Amino acid sequence: MRAARFHDYGSSDVLIVEEAPEPHAGSGEVRVRTVAASVNPIDWKVRSGAARGMLEVEFPAIPGRDAAGIVDEVGEGVTGVAVGDEVFGLGGVFGASAEFAVLSAWAAVPAGWTMAQAGAAGLVYVTAARGLNALGELSGRTLLVEGAAGGVGTAAVEIAVARGATVIGTASEPKHGFLAELGALPTTYGDGLAERVAALAPGGVDVVLDAAASGSLAELVAIAGSADRVVTVADFVNAPALGVRVVSAENDSSILVEASELGGRGAYTPHVAEEFPLDRIAEAHALAEKGHTLGKIVIKV
Ligand SMILES: NC(=O)c1ccc[n+]([C@@H]2O[C@H](COP(=O)([O-])OP(=O)(O)OC[C@H]3O[C@@H](n4cnc5c(N)ncnc54)[C@H](OP(=O)(O)O)[C@@H]3O)[C@@H](O)[C@H]2O)c1
Repeated sequence: MRAARFHDYGSSDVLIVEEAPEPHAGSGEVRVRTVAASVNPIDWKVRSGAARGMLEVEFPAIPGRDAAGIVDEVGEGVTGVAVGDEVFGLGGVFGASAEFAVLSAWAAVPAGWTMAQAGAAGLVYVTAARGLNALGELSGRTLLVEGAAGGVGTAAVEIAVARGATVIGTASEPKHGFLAELGALPTTYGDGLAERVAALAPGGVDVVLDAAASGSLAELVAIAGSADRVVTVADFVNAPALGVRVVSAENDSSILVEASELGGRGAYTPHVAEEFPLDRIAEAHALAEKGHTLGKIVIKV
């Protein structure tokens, strides 16, 4: 099969498209003929070597954590899905940017989503939902999302709005209109955040989700009033000393089914910034790595 691979750590230029052995669905898994995969920060962190020590890479490696495609193999013990179904979901840390990808968590692509949108949804939705679940009941509460216009942040805003929260979201100014359309009260991140948030939420902020790893975690704790009202999916460095919970993605089909249902009723729409053909994956990584795209970078396979 055709796959993007890297044979060593390095800049996005180490990515090449070449023939690679096909994977097959094991027990509890499905294989898809990939239509779209997305680029997540973990992809370029692993490729560049920044995640060395945390995640071992077996070279040559195929980047890509999530994908959407058409099921073409159903593994032992799998029920409720058949060859030909359109699904989106999560595989391992590697393997999605290829003609065939194996998923161990998935859900049906809802009507109304393109396959590119479905390919962009898996990791960010699961991460955002798990982060918000750790913060408890959201209805009637005020939530601050740091990094609200990113892949995870956007999903968090939409989920929280659907759950009845008042959401304040931080982003650079050009993205404020976009955040407002999603139902959030936008503000800029950085110096003076506490004052800006206080102006938007005179009654205070109940809970905070950090999806930015911007070094602001101590300030977010101060804004929330205590560390137990804050969850980060991004700042693994500062969280332990501050007593902030770190939440990570898991390959959980039940959360993806929730994404599919929310998508089906128009309450969650994955935002695709730009689509690149597989042959141009190096450009896609380089753009995603800048960390300021509006929505997800998607690879069309
Ligand atoms: N724990 C897990 O399992 C897990 C899973 C997925 C992601 N993550 C982590 O979560 C983070 C977000 O991922 P993502 O996919 O959403 O990334 P992304 O799409 O690249 O978004 C990053 C966002 O951060 C914002 N940002 C940049 N500098 C900022 C600052 N100083 N303060 C506040 N916001 C800032 C950017 O907004 P502007 O463009 O407006 O500047 C951008 O919208 C990453 O660190 C990623 O590694 C963790």
